[in-house]
Amino acid sequence: MAKRAPFLRSGFNAYHHRGLPPEDEELTRVGPGTPCGEYLRRFWQPVVLASELTDVPRRLRILGEDLVAYRDKSGAIGLLELYCPHRGTSLEFALIEQSGIRCCYHGWLFGCNGAILETPGEPADSTLKDRLFHGAYPVHEHNGLVFAYMGPPEKRPAFPIFDTYDLPGYRMAARAPTLWECNWLQVKENSMDPAHLQFLHTLPGSEGFTDDFKEHPEWDWLETPVGMVYIDTRRNGDKVWVRVADFILPNIHQFPPNADPMALRNSINRPQATTWAVPLDDAHTMQIGYYRAPEGKDMRRGTGFGQDGNRSYGERQRIPGDYDAQVSIHGGMARHGLEHLTTTDRGIIMMRNMIRAGIRAAKKGDGFDHPTLHNGAAIATYSHDQMVAGFPPAASADADRALIRKVARDTVKAAVRHGLSG
Ligand code: FES
Ligand SMILES: [Fe+2]
Repeated sequence: MAKRAPFLRSGFNAYHHRGLPPEDEELTRVGPGTPCGEYLRRFWQPVVLASELTDVPRRLRILGEDLVAYRDKSGAIGLLELYCPHRGTSLEFALIEQSGIRCCYHGWLFGCNGAILETPGEPADSTLKDRLFHGAYPVHEHNGLVFAYMGPPEKRPAFPIFDTYDLPGYRMAARAPTLWECNWLQVKENSMDPAHLQFLHTLPGSEGFTDDFKEHPEWDWLETPVGMVYIDTRRNGDKVWVRVADFILPNIHQFPPNADPMALRNSINRPQATTWAVPLDDAHTMQIGYYRAPEGKDMRRGTGFGQDGNRSYGERQRIPGDYDAQVSIHGGMARHGLEHLTTTDRGIIMMRNMIRAGIRAAKKGDGFDHPTLHNGAAIATYSHDQMVAGFPPAASADADRALIRKVARDTVKAAVRHGLSG
């Protein structure tokens, strides 16, 4: 655990605060052989949009590994180690063929499973290609995304399907990935931090969230079978608006729509996004996943306000967004020893504990389990929002806070017990 910096108790005292505590390596390092890297590799991870696989190979960096993805002319997708096993030329310059890709340097041809199919410069009786394989990872294409399994081959789980993938009355599409120039954990932690909605997302000039979010809500967090949820709860007359976001271990989140006024909500709204924070390496993270919208409503397109670093520096300083708030944490690698966590950070603490427990269980071997590791379609998730009717305000402000908190908890517990209809 990270050593904490001293809590200063008098002014003009930075002199006594200069030490930099170490990063929480167990949770932040993702390269091969690191505890967190090995944990994340046990789950299918989205690595590229299917539409990005064109007539040329696509160079990727995922979990600190350099790779190349391609779709060959037969339609099969390959994900191979980047450097040719002959003399190391990058396969981003390879030629895409009917079956596999051919290194541009001396023409070795590779299949999707890494099989070396041809070694043109070798004598005809060479058995080299019959004996050797290039490094390859299994892939699975789903609804516009290409997923990879980069863990131990004998532990490969079935490809998990979440209940939000095929919701009646909804359309779903892959969203363009964005690059976040920081460690993965501080990006993912944001998904269990509802307190920032009320501040960052309602700053003057900020776009995307309705004025309802300015009102101070009740916040709560609960464990679920797949991870945890935050609950963001506000009163509306005799109804209680319950907003629930999922964190699904190890690196997925789902959140309900945020651009419809609370008063117009009259049904259960399932999440508008399912998002993975895929570490490219310790210092770079890709947010990638799906957007969805009810039939007849516009799907969010492109990158939301403040969700990338492409605005001018001046603009980012004047109206900062999620990207600026998260990437700037301690220069891109959070030092937990410099934080002062408060009541709004209970979700962050729960989440770190869950991830740490997962990492340790994966390392130990026994006791490591998760619903997404089983062969089963429609894995239940809980993100949604709804107006719960029939709860007029309690007699005092304090009693009302307790009441809406209970309504919110009961709503989530019912969802966990019985599932969400529609
Ligand atoms: S380096 Fe790739 S075939 Fe020689
Ligand atoms: Fe946000």
